[in-house]
Amino acid sequence: MDQRNLFRIIVVLCFLIRSIFNKSSESTLHRSKRSYDVRHRSQENSPDNTLKHSNDRPSIFATDNSTVIVAQIGGTATLPCVVRKFNTGVISWIRKDDHRLLTVGLTTYSSDGRLLVEHVRHLQNWGLLIKHVQPSDAGIYECQISTHPPTSIFVILKVTEAVAEILGAPDLYIRAGSTLRLVCSLKHSTEPPSYVFWYHEKHMINYDAGVLVLADRSSSVLLLHETDKSHNGNYTCSPSNAVPASINVHVLNATAEEKPAAMQHANTSTSSSTCTVFNFSVPVSLTILVLQSAWAR
Ligand SMILES: *[C@@H]1O[C@H](CO)[C@@H](O)[C@H](O)[C@H]1NC(C)=O
Ligand SMILES: *[C@@H]1O[C@H](CO)[C@@H](O)[C@H](O)[C@H]1NC(C)=O
Ligand SMILES: *[C@@H]1O[C@H](CO)[C@@H](O)[C@H](O)[C@H]1NC(C)=O
Ligand SMILES: *[C@@H]1O[C@H](CO)[C@@H](O)[C@H](O)[C@H]1NC(C)=O
Ligand SMILES: *[C@@H]1O[C@H](CO)[C@@H](O)[C@H](O)[C@H]1NC(C)=O
Repeated sequence: MDQRNLFRIIVVLCFLIRSIFNKSSESTLHRSKRSYDVRHRSQENSPDNTLKHSNDRPSIFATDNSTVIVAQIGGTATLPCVVRKFNTGVISWIRKDDHRLLTVGLTTYSSDGRLLVEHVRHLQNWGLLIKHVQPSDAGIYECQISTHPPTSIFVILKVTEAVAEILGAPDLYIRAGSTLRLVCSLKHSTEPPSYVFWYHEKHMINYDAGVLVLADRSSSVLLLHETDKSHNGNYTCSPSNAVPASINVHVLNATAEEKPAAMQHANTSTSSSTCTVFNFSVPVSLTILVLQSAWAR
């Protein structure tokens, strides 16, 4: 086998692995969506915890001690506290850091209007709701029941900052006449955004002619057909509840071979300017040439 044939085989393998890799990253996205759903449900009524006790004797609490809840900045945190049905004690929420009394029964003692007890009587659920979560809300919260002596569990609140990320940033090269497809995904988010605005420079383009925006819980896709030089520039994805992300789009003349090595094949979903699976780079144009000559035989 001569060197040229070996090189061709490596390039083909590289492409196959690349496409498998792309598929598996898609399924990772689905998995992370599922784990969001599970987390969200367990925040609401903590069904998984109802049978566990931290001691040998059954706990008064159906919620696990030291349950960790994650909420994003600006979102709503629900700190669970479910007691067993036979109990009649009064439930208080206390912030552990400063021993501040937040709620007693259904009454909010804190002057912070974002706090509320979410009580579902038949479920004996006394969850603490924190709206418009701020970084300073992170910490340990105590759910105390007025038994003799009082018994508590602790709930740990972690606060994350959701950030947008555009695939292919910071620079994307496409041919004039092709379709621009930008995928913006959300990282570290616990709630879907209520909207995602796309900007070209300073101009919001969601409802412009020729523009299509497709969205699901954790991503937004911008499609812009028949691109020309006027579509050059900075595109920003700005979700309602996350730090925005930007990308520079360069529309190249359909015929001109400017920067062919960096030219993006805008039409293919597995598009990428280089193949980096084996930690070496093969320009796409070269790869295509090699593939064409390999298949021409
Ligand atoms: C929860 O854990 C704390 C210490 O981390 C402990 O003091 C408390 O008694 C525990 N609560 C229950 C109900 O076991
Ligand atoms: C994109 O792909 C479609 C079919 O998948 C094809 O008809 C079209 O010509 C392609 N456009 C470009 C610019 O390659
Ligand atoms: C693109 O625009 C956004 C929002 O105006 C700005 O924050 C960002 O710095 C710009 N990026 C570049 C590379 O110009
Ligand atoms: C791109 O095309 C335009 C008009 O068709 C032309 O004026 C310009 O010089 C071209 N640019 C390059 C780099 O070829
Ligand atoms: C890829 O190669 C470069 C040097 O060629 C090296 O610095 C880098 O650590 C390598 N990356 C991986 C993931 O092996």
